[in-house]
Amino acid sequence: METPAGKGDSGIAGWLADRMPANGLMFVVAIVAIVLAAVLGTPAGVVVGVFLVAAAAIVPTSRRREKAQIAARALEKTSLGGLSPQNLAEAVGDPLVIFDRQGATVHANAAARKAFGDLPAGMSLLLKFRAPELQDLIQSVLTGQAGEKAVDYVERVPLERVYRVVGASVGEQTGLFLLTFRDQSEARRVDRMRADFIANASHELRTPLASISGFIETLRGPARNDAKARDQFLQIMQDQTARMARLIDDLLSLSRLEMKALPPAGRPVDLQAVVEAVLDALTPLARESGVEVKRDFGHERMQVAGDRDELFQVFENLLENACKYGQSGGRLIVSIRPSASVPGEAEVAVTDFGPGIPAEHIPRITERFYRVDVETSRSRKGTGLGLAIVKHILTRHHSRLSIRSEPGKGATFTAHLPTVRRRN
Ligand SMILES: Nc1ncnc2c1ncn2[C@@H]1O[C@H](COP(=O)(O)OP(=O)(O)OP(=O)(O)O)[C@@H](O)[C@H]1O
Ligand SMILES: [Mg+2]
Repeated sequence: METPAGKGDSGIAGWLADRMPANGLMFVVAIVAIVLAAVLGTPAGVVVGVFLVAAAAIVPTSRRREKAQIAARALEKTSLGGLSPQNLAEAVGDPLVIFDRQGATVHANAAARKAFGDLPAGMSLLLKFRAPELQDLIQSVLTGQAGEKAVDYVERVPLERVYRVVGASVGEQTGLFLLTFRDQSEARRVDRMRADFIANASHELRTPLASISGFIETLRGPARNDAKARDQFLQIMQDQTARMARLIDDLLSLSRLEMKALPPAGRPVDLQAVVEAVLDALTPLARESGVEVKRDFGHERMQVAGDRDELFQVFENLLENACKYGQSGGRLIVSIRPSASVPGEAEVAVTDFGPGIPAEHIPRITERFYRVDVETSRSRKGTGLGLAIVKHILTRHHSRLSIRSEPGKGATFTAHLPTVRRRN
């Protein structure tokens, strides 16, 4: 005989066990009627009793609590020794909901409750998940149209999350079905980032390429015999090829950093020595930009464990940015000092007195190709990858970058690095 939640396997006893709690009162009245009728010898009483038993078996149980009880028993029947479906469902990290033939929840695991809120036993999934794609999925699983079906479902509140939802029946003829939700949001985000990155990189390469191609055309046509124009155009073409080379170098640098999964070998690097080397290398740029550099190095020499060349790249980009974008301030300060708040941490800060950075740009400024003003950056030969590289290197060194700026007054970029003790 078929029970509400599946085919029973224990005959009349199992069936009674299912129905009794659902229409218990009716069963009790029926049995009392039969007993009384038998004792008093009234055949009509026996007929009434039998009628009540039949009614108790047939009358639908509509209350949620009763449905939940039936569902719970169905689950017990599916259990393997001590290994119950609830235990299995709870052990699954993705949201998982088990439901019955009526589409009512039988069990929702902790991940499902966390993702979708309360999902008590007996709650209709068709009422809970109103999205048409999920309604179709639940219906087709219930009608057994597909062995296993999957759809994409977007949950918008409180945060937008994209799930791949798979529906299936549990075993053969158990009367139970399940939905599993695999969170695809992170994979989607990475896909979008990759697509954006390729689009940005192609765009950055195409712009100088288009300019070079245009000048070649002009040189072969109208400017063919114009020596002055030829010199000028060749100079522009040379600048554009240099820009493309710089972009490719930066892209390779980023990709090399990403390939290096492990943190750099922990050789002690003297911070002051690296910063001095960068300042030496940037002396021509500072002079050309009319920027005076002030050193504010404490007495204490500090060392960090890491890769000298990578750290050189960090300070090079911060100082180069300060010269390029903070040029109007006419000066910059480089300071190296122990952190006042975190013991064992060094702070290398580069402060300029230029236009600064509006607050809304600061959280995004370390993204690849993100520039506050694209034209200014391009005119200063920037690729928009410098701070992305800085952030990557600092993360590999268990360090971080902080940015403070008061628009109109300048900006301070600070690298916070864990120090190592000097060996004597
Ligand atoms: N000190 C600063 N003052 C004002 N704006 C800055 C400063 N440093 C960086 N920026 C802004 O942040 C953007 C990103 O800087 P980033 O170093 O990543 O790229 P870039 O300098 O344009 O190119 P690259 O460093 O690859 O040559 C810059 O384009 C600029 O708009
Ligand atoms: Mg830069």
